[in-house]
Amino acid sequence: MSDSSRTIVAIVGSGLVGRAWAITFARGGCDVRLWDTDPSAAERAIAFIESVADTLAANDLLFGRSVADVLSSVTACEELPQALEGAVWVQECGPERLEVKREIFGRVDKLAAPAAILASSSSALLPSAISEGLEGRERCVVAHPINPPYLVPAVELVPAPWTAKAVMERAKAFLLSVGQAPLVMKRELDGFIMNRLQGALLEEAFRLVAHGYADADDVDRGIADGLALRWSFMGPFETIDLNAPGGVADYVARYQPMYAGLFEGMKERVDWAGPVLSKVLQSRRASLPEEGLAARQLWRDRRLMALRSHKRKAERDVGR
Ligand code: NAI
Repeated sequence: MSDSSRTIVAIVGSGLVGRAWAITFARGGCDVRLWDTDPSAAERAIAFIESVADTLAANDLLFGRSVADVLSSVTACEELPQALEGAVWVQECGPERLEVKREIFGRVDKLAAPAAILASSSSALLPSAISEGLEGRERCVVAHPINPPYLVPAVELVPAPWTAKAVMERAKAFLLSVGQAPLVMKRELDGFIMNRLQGALLEEAFRLVAHGYADADDVDRGIADGLALRWSFMGPFETIDLNAPGGVADYVARYQPMYAGLFEGMKERVDWAGPVLSKVLQSRRASLPEEGLAARQLWRDRRLMALRSHKRKAERDVGR
């Protein structure tokens, strides 16, 4: 049921990420309007939302809202202007191609209310490239989720050089209000924050296997049964702040020399598609035959949901 006091969000592009954002915003109390150039995409997105809503409710991941309330907050629109009418937040979720994003932003900038914030879900395109030349370029940002945002709260909020400060502040407040965890970048940069961190870790993981120091399986175990236990509730800086008696400065004094000695050997690039790939493939397929990939993806999603649910409960019980 549409409620005139609710914040209206328009989702432009209703594929994998669009449908996941729709759950996130509807659960956060917004009225969500879905639009897509493919006339059947928005209805398919709604069918997907219907298929997962009960499981999310059972894991307390509709944040206390009923399934009926969430489902009735999401509407498929036939035309873009209809989706944008009254919207204060537009989440663009079209294909990851610059010319398509620019075309979408060009249309949306003309049609959306002047105060609306225009956010792109882009994984890697810079907000300056997407919004350059637009009349409303100061209201454009990238809000990059980790899929699916209804299970993973972090969102990279990236400004173009001309994005207004007030827009970044409003964007941050809005994402917080729907239960997301915005990471605010001060300036745009290729890879934003998360892909740079992930890329650095992957490069070293490939290097360890490429040079025969460890099998892929053991590298994976080092994260899943080691570092990631802490990383699921604190980042690297807080980790080191708590890993030396005197905090972060003490950690740096004690351990920087050890790390500094490693970096020289980390400078050379590893070709992930080179001979190391067959080693990684061999290890992965020994652990999981190719025909098991789809079932394992469902397992991953169940584990992720249980973890998210646990984290919400733990944050309430013992504090963030
Ligand atoms: P997708 O292919 O599932 O969905 C894209 C949708 O956009 C399709 O339904 C398509 O019909 C529609 N579309 C095509 N041209 C359009 C236009 N001109 N206007 C409106 N809609 C249009 O792709 P996905 O995975 O949902 O990706 C969307 C965006 O989200 C991309 O920029 C991607 O880089 C980003 N992203 C993807 C993540 C992922 O894990 N799949 C994670 C984070 C961000």
